[in-house]
Amino acid sequence: MIGRDLLGTEDLDRADIERILETAEHMREIGRRTIKKVPTLRGRTIVNLFFESSTRTKSSFEIAGKRLSADVINFAAASSSLKKAESILDTARNLEAMDLDAVVVRHAVAGVPKQIADVLSAPVINAGDGAHEHPTQALLDLLTVRREKGRIDGLTIAIIGDILHSRVARSNIYAFRKMGAEVRVAGPPQMLPAAIETLGVKAFTSLREAIDGVDVVMALRIQNERLSGTYLPSVREYSATYGIDREKLKFAKDDAIVMHPGPVNRGVELSHDLTDHRPGVILDQVRNGVAIRMAVLYLLSGRRQEGDPRLDLESGEEK
Ligand code: CP
Repeated sequence: MIGRDLLGTEDLDRADIERILETAEHMREIGRRTIKKVPTLRGRTIVNLFFESSTRTKSSFEIAGKRLSADVINFAAASSSLKKAESILDTARNLEAMDLDAVVVRHAVAGVPKQIADVLSAPVINAGDGAHEHPTQALLDLLTVRREKGRIDGLTIAIIGDILHSRVARSNIYAFRKMGAEVRVAGPPQMLPAAIETLGVKAFTSLREAIDGVDVVMALRIQNERLSGTYLPSVREYSATYGIDREKLKFAKDDAIVMHPGPVNRGVELSHDLTDHRPGVILDQVRNGVAIRMAVLYLLSGRRQEGDPRLDLESGEEK
């Protein structure tokens, strides 16, 4: 995977996903040590280019890079020369001229990471672009499910909420299906894309039917910042119909887990109780996010170009 961009799970095959998950297991072990640092990416420079707000993704990419001993630069869009009308692509070109080894990009507009990848030679990692994809979120969700259930193949996952505007839903649909899971989606009709079933999922407007017998219930955030007000006339009504609580969860398997990518609108998509306690695994998802981002940074930027020696995961030595 060296030198490749990670723009979406649509571009990954099953072997790529398995390699990332296996590498992330090793990264989790590093995260449990007293000294959570290995010299693997010493001398590498990684830039976080976040044009949209983030808590989990931005912090975990920064922690991931630092645990691998890379130099991590957090680009501050608000105080940059973007304010002097410099374009995003010129910004990226200028930053790359400082010899970057990887660029992590989040933008509110779908396709911006791809546009940047087209002009840079350093690997570009999509940290969420509009309603398109959020591949590292899906990878951390896969890791969480695999650790909880011991497998992904043969499981049934129900993704509930605003499927239309969700990059998390799209990335998870591609990723879970590639790993052999059945994926169902459910939400109000106006939040279900017309052609969603062409992605190989089953679509429901009934929450009860969608979560009947599933192994995993994944609630999505209601994205107030992307909704004009026409999609959701009443948050209270949404919560009553599609919000997940212990009563509704009875239709899923007895050992079903409840996931949410965060940030959670407490009491809207998820009851307070499920946000804080098992079978909710929300903070495990966040923990696994660091390991996945370490794995992705290592696999994509561990060699400067194809043919260079691979770096040992522990020592950073070439092998
Ligand atoms: N799940 C997620 O992408 O969270 P942030 O927006 O806080 O990064």
